[in-house]
Amino acid sequence: MSYVPAQNPVAGDLRKNRVDRRFPLYHRAMQLPCMKVVRPRPFLKWAGGKSQLIPQYETHFPPQFLHYYEPFLGGGAVFFHLQPQRAMLMDINPALVNVYRCIRDHVEAVIEHLSLHRDRHCQEYYYQIRASQPATPVEQAARLIYLNKTCFNGLYRENSKGLFNVPIGRYKNPLICDSELLVAVAQALQFTQIELCPFEAVLDWASDASDFVYFDPPYHPISATSKFTAYNRYCFTEADQRRLCDVFITLARRGVKVMLSNSDCPLIRQLYQDFPIHTILAARSINSKAEKRGKITEVLVTSY
Ligand SMILES: C[S@@+](CC[C@H](N)C(=O)[O-])C[C@H]1O[C@@H](n2cnc3c(N)ncnc32)[C@H](O)[C@@H]1O
Repeated sequence: MSYVPAQNPVAGDLRKNRVDRRFPLYHRAMQLPCMKVVRPRPFLKWAGGKSQLIPQYETHFPPQFLHYYEPFLGGGAVFFHLQPQRAMLMDINPALVNVYRCIRDHVEAVIEHLSLHRDRHCQEYYYQIRASQPATPVEQAARLIYLNKTCFNGLYRENSKGLFNVPIGRYKNPLICDSELLVAVAQALQFTQIELCPFEAVLDWASDASDFVYFDPPYHPISATSKFTAYNRYCFTEADQRRLCDVFITLARRGVKVMLSNSDCPLIRQLYQDFPIHTILAARSINSKAEKRGKITEVLVTSY
């Protein structure tokens, strides 16, 4: 697949301007009146979110890097934790990429639309919005956040036509519009480049030891019955895991610092056998059957 990166006038071209310090961090004052300052963190509940695992990852992050790349962005827990000054965030899901771009560039408008959803929220309204197809990117972003905050299990799932098809969740008082958090997220995103692209595109960008790439792909199933691969209509197959491993190796040979999360299974341990593999203890939280929620091991592979 050929991929042409779009130019972001704020982030600049990371390849040409590798240490571009023209813009002071947080040049736009975006605090709305009477807002408390909060730390940025994931604003969407996303399958495979890494917030709970950060304490175990902490000792494995490289101590130094200039540019950060996250090709499977999802909820972006690691990005928000590290808060790198120069980052390129990528995902193959157009609706998700649109949300991040809208928050970065139009956070006030997103908050305005989300407040309307909050004020009108009820069962009937949820299904009305779920069936709608808003015309503008900002309305689309507000719709996705609204549905994510109110849908069953907060699980983003699309059918084969790419339509969001999750029923309403049973929340008493969902926090639909967290304005302070969205403003903090917008600030953290100010100097990021956000791209809609497949993971291989990172090869066009990350080139040397000053770069850090974190891969959090859809996990390889640990058994025939556990299909963790259906994040959206794009299935992540064993062939994709093998192509991802090739990309990991190519980057590692360039001296790029690479880190990857995945399930603890024979295929992944075999693919990455030449690299340090760290065992991580995780709680499997997104499973429709309560009795199947428990502790499992996962792996964290590093190239360094
Ligand atoms: C495990 S989730 C990422 C979780 C995230 N790191 C977090 O903390 O919430 C995987 C993401 O990879 C994206 N994805 C799936 N296949 C992809 C591909 N071939 N290239 C790029 N992104 C892909 C999905 O859209 C999804 O957002």
